[in-house]
Amino acid sequence: MKNYTVTIAIDGPAAAGKSTVAKIVAEKLSCVYIDTGAMYRALTLKAINNSINVNDENALVELLSNTIIELQQSDKGQLVLLDNQDVTAAIRSIEVTNNVSFVAQHPAIRKEMVKRQQNLANKRDVVMDGRDIGTHVLPNAEVKIFLIASVDERAKRRYEENINNGISSDLNELKREIEQRDKIDSKREASPLVKASDAIEIDTTSLSIQEVAQRIFNEAAKIKKNKTER
Ligand code: CDP
Ligand code: CDP
Repeated sequence: MKNYTVTIAIDGPAAAGKSTVAKIVAEKLSCVYIDTGAMYRALTLKAINNSINVNDENALVELLSNTIIELQQSDKGQLVLLDNQDVTAAIRSIEVTNNVSFVAQHPAIRKEMVKRQQNLANKRDVVMDGRDIGTHVLPNAEVKIFLIASVDERAKRRYEENINNGISSDLNELKREIEQRDKIDSKREASPLVKASDAIEIDTTSLSIQEVAQRIFNEAAKIKKNKTER
């Protein structure tokens, strides 16, 4: 594994603002943004399309071994390619969202995904977001951030995001979906969603996107300064 420079790990529950701030931070620091949730979502989409039971670990392992998932940077942002097909929009469907945590709880699936994610991070400086980045994928990351926000605020954010995308949704249903996914992600045995002991927790409930991004830049700047003074 390489000697990380300012590799940044951002973890936290659903809709805490991870991907939004990760993209801003990555752009500012000229790093590559890697959305690990998109990888679990892509596998989930393929499982659904192939009528594979999301509780059948062996079938999913077999499926993953024949699956290419790529995160491609483009003018339109990050594209997610599943076996060379653009699935950037398809992986955000309600069906994928409601099934992804079941796929992601299998230890053998996580082991392979972590290996793929570490390979991606080996080649470049990254800002990576997910659930287990600071604890398992990049335990040596120099900046580890754990974003949280109240569940009401997170449901409201998803609701507003949907409105902006022309999708109507039910606020209470969004809240239930977020709570259910958080519960599965936090309670699973294999690398659950927990704050790494050396991560900085930021409660974003009443912070703007820019305020959160600024907090992360400040942490990255401290690391850079310490390095140059060494
Ligand atoms: O963006 P959102 O918070 O809706 O979720 P996501 O980052 O797209 O992740 C979708 C799901 O993938 C999570 O709810 C987890 O079940 C799983 N996941 C994971 O287990 N480990 C990761 N490093 C990233 C995502
Ligand atoms: O990646 P994750 O699921 O943690 O959350 P996200 O997709 O980055 O953020 C969910 C929504 O909350 C987006 O529409 C963001 O614009 C919004 N957001 C916000 O309003 N305030 C923040 N401090 C962070 C995100």
